[in-house]
Amino acid sequence: MRLTQLQVSNFRNIESIQCQFDPQVNLITGNNAAGKTSLLESIYYLSHLRSFRSHQLSDLIRRDTQYLQIFAQTLSKENLMIPMGIRRSRNKTTIRFNHRSVNRVSDIAAKFPVLSIHPDSYKLITGSPVQRRQYMDWGVFHVEQDFFQSWRLFRQSLAQRNAALKSREGKVYCQLWDKIIVEHANYIDQFRQTYIDALQHYLLSLAKLFFHRDELSIEYKRGWSTDITLEELLIKEFEKDKLKGYTCYGPHRAEIIIKVNGQSAQNGISRGQQKTLVALMRLAQAQHFTDTRQQLCILLYDDLAAELDGHHREMILSVLSKMHVQLFLTTIEADQIDLSSWSSKKMFHVEHGCMKDLI
Ligand SMILES: Nc1ncnc2c1ncn2[C@@H]1O[C@H](COP(=O)(O)OP(=O)(O)OP(=O)(O)O)[C@@H](O)[C@H]1O
Ligand SMILES: [Mg+2]
Repeated sequence: MRLTQLQVSNFRNIESIQCQFDPQVNLITGNNAAGKTSLLESIYYLSHLRSFRSHQLSDLIRRDTQYLQIFAQTLSKENLMIPMGIRRSRNKTTIRFNHRSVNRVSDIAAKFPVLSIHPDSYKLITGSPVQRRQYMDWGVFHVEQDFFQSWRLFRQSLAQRNAALKSREGKVYCQLWDKIIVEHANYIDQFRQTYIDALQHYLLSLAKLFFHRDELSIEYKRGWSTDITLEELLIKEFEKDKLKGYTCYGPHRAEIIIKVNGQSAQNGISRGQQKTLVALMRLAQAQHFTDTRQQLCILLYDDLAAELDGHHREMILSVLSKMHVQLFLTTIEADQIDLSSWSSKKMFHVEHGCMKDLI
């Protein structure tokens, strides 16, 4: 899937822009507060229906306007033009894909795979496990068709069980959902384990280039101990769950532990190294996606120059130039990004939320 054309209205400081993109690489330049991140965010938003930097919808709709609108023309791997779009006001969301209305964001996310790397991405390492689960599940969702259904059924049943625990219902009632929880927890666990095993190879070979003297490891933890089944654990820990008012173990507590030289990457490496590592985690995901799905994904890289020193920047650009992705980069100064390795490229300049083509 490639993004060929984008129209954005009333998204942050962007009143209205329309652009045609290059299939390989697009560099967006502009001063601080011009709207560079907002443009990338609008592409991410179309794929995820959420932002990578804000949870508030009101932050996204341009001040003093009623709704935001994003429309994209995409090209599928079969070379079909597929339009998609989203219109969101404060109380209504309309999503269209290929001339049809769709109800769920997962319908559009499955068709329009977008990954992002941005200045806050290092929080994937330092932040809560929720972010690492989201990271892992992006990949599982895109490569394993049955994952989403299992995940949905698991979440629904877990919510029911937790509500019953919270309202102090009897044991038999609370345990009504255990069977379906266990069934789908086991699927989710298998999908995630398989994904991390496969992803590991990509990540470790990238890490060799950047952390050549260091040893990197990534370990998947499923959310409950490996020496007991979840079925047994839910029975064994029922009183604890009841006391807490929620289910303490399961795939909703899964984690991935990243270590450098045996020490947690959360506090054992510098902030710059964390930023490099997160970039590599995303690149590994993109490479794995392309290899397994035999199609491109879109990679948004916000503020690449501000994130890395000259040497690391060159190395990342060299890796990126060999990858099969459609790339969107932002930078303040164009000369900080050397695009000479790409045979096809486009540059844009953003000013006060307006955009013009440079080449
Ligand atoms: N809902 C909104 N309505 C109008 N303007 C907004 C809204 N949300 C954010 N802005 C403004 O949009 C502008 C562009 O922000 P953005 O983060 O996209 O800039 P940028 O080009 O990435 O800058 P930097 O180089 O500093 O990262 C900012 O001035 C911000 O205050
Ligand atoms: Mg920015």
